Amino acid sequence: MLKMIPELNKATVRMRDRGQVETIIRNMQREGASALQVISDFDMTLTRFAHKGKRCPTTHNILHNTNLISEECKAKMSNLVAHYYPIEIDSSKSVEEKIPHMVEWWMRAHDLLIQQKIKKVQLAQAVKGSGAKLREGYKSFFKVLKQNSVPLLIFSAGVGDILEEVIIEHGVFDPNVRIFSNYMDYDENGVACTFKGELIHSFNKKEGALQNTHQFVHDRTNVLLLGDSLGDLDMAEGVQDLKNLLRIGYLNDKVEERREAYVSSYDIVLEEDETLDVPNAILNYITAGEGTSPGQ
Ligand code: TMP
Ligand code: MG
Repeated sequence: MLKMIPELNKATVRMRDRGQVETIIRNMQREGASALQVISDFDMTLTRFAHKGKRCPTTHNILHNTNLISEECKAKMSNLVAHYYPIEIDSSKSVEEKIPHMVEWWMRAHDLLIQQKIKKVQLAQAVKGSGAKLREGYKSFFKVLKQNSVPLLIFSAGVGDILEEVIIEHGVFDPNVRIFSNYMDYDENGVACTFKGELIHSFNKKEGALQNTHQFVHDRTNVLLLGDSLGDLDMAEGVQDLKNLLRIGYLNDKVEERREAYVSSYDIVLEEDETLDVPNAILNYITAGEGTSPGQ
Protein backbone atom coordinates (compact mmCIF):
# COMPACT_ATOMS: atom_id res chain seq x y z
CA MET A 1 0.00 0.00 0.00
CA LEU A 2 2.79 2.41 0.88
CA LYS A 3 4.27 1.80 -2.53
CA MET A 4 0.95 2.47 -4.20
CA ILE A 5 0.14 5.54 -2.09
CA PRO A 6 3.45 7.03 -0.91
CA GLU A 7 1.60 10.24 0.00
CA LEU A 8 0.39 8.45 3.15
CA ASN A 9 3.98 8.81 4.36
CA LYS A 10 3.90 12.61 4.18
CA ALA A 11 4.95 14.34 7.39
CA THR A 12 1.50 15.95 7.62
CA VAL A 13 -0.32 12.58 7.86
CA ARG A 14 -1.47 10.98 11.11
CA MET A 15 -3.45 7.77 11.40
CA ARG A 16 -4.94 6.05 14.43
CA ASP A 17 -4.84 2.69 12.68
CA ARG A 18 -2.83 2.44 9.49
CA GLY A 19 -3.84 -1.17 8.90
CA GLN A 20 -7.51 -0.28 9.00
CA VAL A 21 -6.99 2.61 6.58
CA GLU A 22 -5.25 0.24 4.18
CA THR A 23 -8.07 -2.27 4.42
CA ILE A 24 -10.71 0.36 3.70
CA ILE A 25 -8.79 1.73 0.72
CA ARG A 26 -8.24 -1.79 -0.67
CA ASN A 27 -11.96 -2.55 -0.35
CA MET A 28 -12.81 0.67 -2.12
CA GLN A 29 -10.29 0.01 -4.85
CA ARG A 30 -11.74 -3.43 -5.47
CA GLU A 31 -15.17 -1.93 -6.17
CA GLY A 32 -13.78 0.99 -8.12
CA ALA A 33 -15.16 4.32 -9.23
CA SER A 34 -18.67 3.08 -9.93
CA ALA A 35 -19.30 2.31 -6.23
CA LEU A 36 -17.75 5.54 -4.97
CA GLN A 37 -19.07 8.93 -3.92
CA VAL A 38 -17.18 11.80 -2.30
CA ILE A 39 -18.81 13.88 0.42
CA SER A 40 -16.94 17.03 1.34
CA ASP A 41 -17.13 20.14 3.43
CA PHE A 42 -16.13 23.35 1.63
CA ASP A 43 -14.65 26.11 3.81
CA MET A 44 -11.18 25.20 5.04
CA THR A 45 -11.50 21.70 3.53
CA LEU A 46 -11.67 22.25 -0.24
CA THR A 47 -10.45 25.81 0.29
CA ARG A 48 -7.14 26.70 1.87
CA PHE A 49 -6.83 27.72 5.49
CA ALA A 50 -3.76 29.86 4.83
CA HIS A 51 -1.58 30.99 1.94
CA LYS A 52 1.83 32.65 2.27
CA GLY A 53 1.30 33.15 5.99
CA LYS A 54 -2.10 34.82 5.61
CA ARG A 55 -5.47 33.32 6.53
CA CYS A 56 -7.73 32.64 3.55
CA PRO A 57 -11.37 33.69 3.70
CA THR A 58 -14.40 31.50 4.31
CA THR A 59 -17.42 32.12 2.06
CA HIS A 60 -18.86 34.40 4.77
CA ASN A 61 -15.57 36.28 4.97
CA ILE A 62 -15.47 36.72 1.19
CA LEU A 63 -18.69 38.70 1.41
CA HIS A 64 -17.31 40.54 4.40
CA ASN A 65 -14.23 41.60 2.41
CA THR A 66 -16.18 43.11 -0.49
CA ASN A 67 -17.53 46.59 -0.97
CA LEU A 68 -21.05 45.13 -0.94
CA ILE A 69 -20.93 45.36 2.86
CA SER A 70 -20.80 48.58 4.89
CA GLU A 71 -17.95 49.31 7.29
CA GLU A 72 -20.37 49.13 10.18
CA CYS A 73 -21.54 45.68 9.12
CA LYS A 74 -17.92 44.53 8.70
CA ALA A 75 -17.11 45.60 12.25
CA LYS A 76 -20.12 43.73 13.58
CA MET A 77 -19.29 40.56 11.60
CA SER A 78 -15.70 40.68 12.89
CA ASN A 79 -16.99 40.93 16.43
CA LEU A 80 -19.14 37.87 15.83
CA VAL A 81 -16.17 35.88 14.53
CA ALA A 82 -14.02 36.99 17.48
CA HIS A 83 -16.70 35.81 19.88
CA TYR A 84 -17.98 32.62 18.26
CA TYR A 85 -15.03 31.08 16.36
CA PRO A 86 -13.16 30.23 19.60
CA ILE A 87 -16.32 28.45 20.77
CA GLU A 88 -16.56 26.52 17.47
CA ILE A 89 -13.04 25.09 17.89
CA ASP A 90 -12.98 24.79 21.70
CA SER A 91 -11.93 21.22 22.47
CA SER A 92 -13.19 21.48 26.06
CA LYS A 93 -16.84 21.94 24.97
CA SER A 94 -19.18 19.25 23.68
CA VAL A 95 -21.07 19.57 20.40
CA GLU A 96 -24.32 19.89 22.37
CA GLU A 97 -22.89 22.84 24.26
CA LYS A 98 -21.67 24.46 21.06
CA ILE A 99 -24.84 24.14 18.97
CA PRO A 100 -26.89 26.99 20.53
CA HIS A 101 -23.92 29.31 20.08
CA MET A 102 -23.49 28.28 16.45
CA VAL A 103 -27.19 28.84 15.69
CA GLU A 104 -26.91 32.29 17.27
CA TRP A 105 -23.76 33.11 15.27
CA TRP A 106 -25.24 32.07 11.92
CA MET A 107 -28.55 33.83 12.55
CA ARG A 108 -26.85 37.06 13.57
CA ALA A 109 -24.43 36.91 10.61
CA HIS A 110 -27.24 36.19 8.14
CA ASP A 111 -29.37 39.03 9.55
CA LEU A 112 -26.45 41.40 9.06
CA LEU A 113 -25.89 40.20 5.49
CA ILE A 114 -29.55 40.56 4.57
CA GLN A 115 -29.57 44.15 5.86
CA GLN A 116 -26.91 44.95 3.25
CA LYS A 117 -29.28 44.53 0.30
CA ILE A 118 -26.78 42.52 -1.70
CA LYS A 119 -27.54 42.24 -5.43
CA LYS A 120 -27.15 38.87 -7.10
CA VAL A 121 -25.53 40.39 -10.19
CA GLN A 122 -22.71 41.80 -8.06
CA LEU A 123 -21.62 38.51 -6.54
CA ALA A 124 -19.38 37.15 -9.31
CA GLN A 125 -17.42 40.39 -9.45
CA ALA A 126 -17.12 40.47 -5.67
CA VAL A 127 -15.66 36.98 -5.50
CA LYS A 128 -12.99 37.82 -8.09
CA GLY A 129 -9.84 38.85 -6.28
CA SER A 130 -11.32 37.98 -2.89
CA GLY A 131 -8.40 35.71 -2.04
CA ALA A 132 -10.54 32.57 -2.03
CA LYS A 133 -8.31 29.65 -2.96
CA LEU A 134 -9.07 26.01 -3.50
CA ARG A 135 -6.36 23.78 -2.08
CA GLU A 136 -3.31 22.94 -4.15
CA GLY A 137 -4.13 19.96 -6.37
CA TYR A 138 -7.78 20.93 -6.85
CA LYS A 139 -7.58 20.60 -10.64
CA SER A 140 -6.58 16.96 -10.42
CA PHE A 141 -9.19 16.34 -7.69
CA PHE A 142 -12.09 17.68 -9.74
CA LYS A 143 -10.80 16.15 -12.98
CA VAL A 144 -10.53 12.61 -11.62
CA LEU A 145 -14.02 12.81 -10.15
CA LYS A 146 -15.47 14.20 -13.37
CA GLN A 147 -13.70 11.72 -15.64
CA ASN A 148 -14.90 8.80 -13.55
CA SER A 149 -18.42 10.25 -13.05
CA VAL A 150 -17.97 10.10 -9.28
CA PRO A 151 -20.51 12.34 -7.53
CA LEU A 152 -19.04 15.07 -5.34
CA LEU A 153 -21.52 16.21 -2.69
CA ILE A 154 -20.48 19.43 -0.98
CA PHE A 155 -22.10 20.08 2.41
CA SER A 156 -21.35 23.59 3.49
CA ALA A 157 -22.46 25.81 6.32
CA GLY A 158 -21.09 28.69 4.28
CA VAL A 159 -22.99 30.86 1.80
CA GLY A 160 -24.00 28.74 -1.22
CA ASP A 161 -24.14 31.63 -3.68
CA ILE A 162 -20.52 32.54 -2.89
CA LEU A 163 -19.36 28.92 -2.86
CA GLU A 164 -20.73 28.48 -6.39
CA GLU A 165 -18.96 31.60 -7.60
CA VAL A 166 -15.67 30.33 -6.13
CA ILE A 167 -15.87 27.00 -7.94
CA ILE A 168 -17.08 28.66 -11.14
CA GLU A 169 -14.10 31.05 -10.93
CA HIS A 170 -11.78 28.04 -10.61
CA GLY A 171 -13.50 26.40 -13.61
CA VAL A 172 -14.62 23.27 -11.77
CA PHE A 173 -18.41 23.50 -11.40
CA ASP A 174 -18.80 20.15 -13.14
CA PRO A 175 -22.04 18.20 -13.69
CA ASN A 176 -21.10 15.62 -11.03
CA VAL A 177 -20.94 18.35 -8.33
CA ARG A 178 -23.94 18.90 -6.01
CA ILE A 179 -24.02 21.62 -3.37
CA PHE A 180 -26.03 21.71 -0.12
CA SER A 181 -25.55 25.03 1.58
CA ASN A 182 -27.16 28.26 2.80
CA TYR A 183 -28.46 30.00 -0.31
CA MET A 184 -29.82 33.51 -0.37
CA ASP A 185 -33.25 34.23 -1.79
CA TYR A 186 -33.76 37.31 -3.94
CA ASP A 187 -36.70 39.67 -4.47
CA GLU A 188 -37.98 40.76 -7.90
CA ASN A 189 -35.14 43.31 -8.12
CA GLY A 190 -32.48 40.66 -7.54
CA VAL A 191 -31.77 41.91 -4.01
CA ALA A 192 -31.08 39.31 -1.29
CA CYS A 193 -34.01 39.38 1.13
CA THR A 194 -33.66 36.16 3.14
CA PHE A 195 -31.83 32.83 3.34
CA LYS A 196 -33.68 29.81 1.89
CA GLY A 197 -34.60 26.63 3.73
CA GLU A 198 -33.22 25.18 6.92
CA LEU A 199 -30.13 26.86 8.33
CA ILE A 200 -26.97 24.76 8.02
CA HIS A 201 -24.32 25.47 10.67
CA SER A 202 -21.13 23.55 11.38
CA PHE A 203 -22.77 20.98 13.66
CA ASN A 204 -26.07 20.04 11.97
CA LYS A 205 -24.86 18.79 8.60
CA LYS A 206 -26.07 15.30 9.44
CA GLU A 207 -29.70 16.42 9.22
CA GLY A 208 -29.24 17.89 5.75
CA ALA A 209 -27.27 14.82 4.73
CA LEU A 210 -30.08 12.52 5.80
CA GLN A 211 -32.62 14.43 3.75
CA ASN A 212 -30.63 15.06 0.63
CA THR A 213 -27.98 12.60 -0.35
CA HIS A 214 -29.80 9.41 -1.23
CA GLN A 215 -31.66 10.79 -4.24
CA PHE A 216 -28.43 11.51 -6.12
CA VAL A 217 -26.26 8.61 -5.20
CA HIS A 218 -28.20 5.47 -4.42
CA ASP A 219 -26.12 2.34 -4.98
CA ARG A 220 -22.81 4.11 -4.33
CA THR A 221 -21.96 2.45 -1.06
CA ASN A 222 -18.33 3.56 -0.67
CA VAL A 223 -17.71 7.05 0.65
CA LEU A 224 -14.62 9.20 0.82
CA LEU A 225 -15.43 11.96 3.29
CA LEU A 226 -13.42 15.17 3.65
CA GLY A 227 -13.86 17.67 6.46
CA ASP A 228 -12.06 20.07 8.75
CA SER A 229 -14.43 20.30 11.69
CA LEU A 230 -15.53 17.54 14.05
CA GLY A 231 -19.03 18.52 12.87
CA ASP A 232 -18.15 17.17 9.41
CA LEU A 233 -17.73 13.59 10.64
CA ASP A 234 -21.45 12.81 10.31
CA MET A 235 -21.89 13.89 6.71
CA ALA A 236 -22.20 10.31 5.43
CA GLU A 237 -25.13 9.47 7.73
CA GLY A 238 -27.64 9.70 4.88
CA VAL A 239 -25.93 7.07 2.74
CA GLN A 240 -27.97 3.88 2.46
CA ASP A 241 -26.22 0.52 2.70
CA LEU A 242 -22.91 2.19 3.46
CA LYS A 243 -20.13 -0.38 3.04
CA ASN A 244 -16.82 1.42 3.27
CA LEU A 245 -16.25 4.86 4.73
CA LEU A 246 -12.89 6.63 4.80
CA ARG A 247 -12.85 9.94 6.66
CA ILE A 248 -10.06 12.43 6.08
CA GLY A 249 -9.86 15.43 8.40
CA TYR A 250 -7.86 18.61 7.86
CA LEU A 251 -6.50 19.84 11.17
CA ASN A 252 -5.71 23.44 10.30
CA ASP A 253 -5.58 25.32 13.56
CA LYS A 254 -4.76 24.69 17.25
CA VAL A 255 -3.05 21.50 16.15
CA GLU A 256 -1.53 20.36 19.45
CA GLU A 257 -4.70 20.99 21.40
CA ARG A 258 -7.00 19.18 19.00
CA ARG A 259 -4.76 16.38 17.70
CA GLU A 260 -6.10 13.73 20.03
CA ALA A 261 -9.75 14.43 19.20
CA TYR A 262 -9.03 14.43 15.45
CA VAL A 263 -6.88 11.31 15.41
CA SER A 264 -9.44 9.40 17.45
CA SER A 265 -12.33 10.32 15.14
CA TYR A 266 -10.92 10.80 11.60
CA ASP A 267 -9.23 7.83 9.88
CA ILE A 268 -6.59 10.09 8.34
CA VAL A 269 -5.66 13.47 9.81
CA LEU A 270 -3.80 16.02 7.71
CA GLU A 271 -2.01 18.54 9.89
CA GLU A 272 -1.41 21.99 8.43
CA ASP A 273 -1.48 20.49 4.95
CA GLU A 274 -2.68 23.02 2.36
CA THR A 275 -2.85 20.44 -0.42
CA LEU A 276 -5.20 17.79 -1.75
CA ASP A 277 -2.22 15.45 -2.28
CA VAL A 278 -3.47 12.68 0.01
CA PRO A 279 -7.12 12.65 -1.18
CA ASN A 280 -5.85 12.80 -4.78
CA ALA A 281 -3.48 9.89 -4.32
CA ILE A 282 -6.24 7.80 -2.75
CA LEU A 283 -8.71 8.74 -5.49
CA ASN A 284 -6.19 7.90 -8.18
CA TYR A 285 -5.57 4.54 -6.58
CA ILE A 286 -9.27 3.72 -6.21
CA THR A 287 -10.21 4.81 -9.72
CA ALA A 288 -7.11 3.48 -11.48
CA GLY A 289 -9.07 0.51 -12.71
CA GLU A 290 -11.12 -2.24 -11.30
CA GLY A 291 -9.24 -5.49 -11.17
CA THR A 292 -5.85 -3.89 -10.52
CA SER A 293 -4.15 -6.12 -8.04
CA PRO A 294 -4.49 -4.26 -4.74
CA GLY A 295 -1.59 -3.59 -2.44
CA GLN A 296 1.13 -4.41 -4.96
P1 TMP B 1 -18.17 24.66 7.32
O1 TMP B 1 -16.80 24.79 6.79
O2 TMP B 1 -18.30 23.62 8.39
O3 TMP B 1 -19.17 24.50 6.24
O4 TMP B 1 -18.51 26.00 8.12
C1 TMP B 1 -18.33 27.24 7.64
C2 TMP B 1 -17.31 28.02 8.39
O5 TMP B 1 -17.71 29.40 8.28
C3 TMP B 1 -17.19 27.75 9.88
O6 TMP B 1 -15.87 27.32 10.17
C4 TMP B 1 -17.40 29.11 10.53
C5 TMP B 1 -17.27 30.08 9.41
N1 TMP B 1 -18.05 31.32 9.53
C6 TMP B 1 -17.42 32.52 9.25
O7 TMP B 1 -16.22 32.52 8.93
N2 TMP B 1 -18.13 33.67 9.33
C7 TMP B 1 -19.46 33.71 9.69
O8 TMP B 1 -20.06 34.79 9.74
C8 TMP B 1 -20.11 32.45 9.98
C9 TMP B 1 -21.55 32.43 10.36
C10 TMP B 1 -19.37 31.29 9.87
MG1 MG C 1 -15.09 23.72 7.12
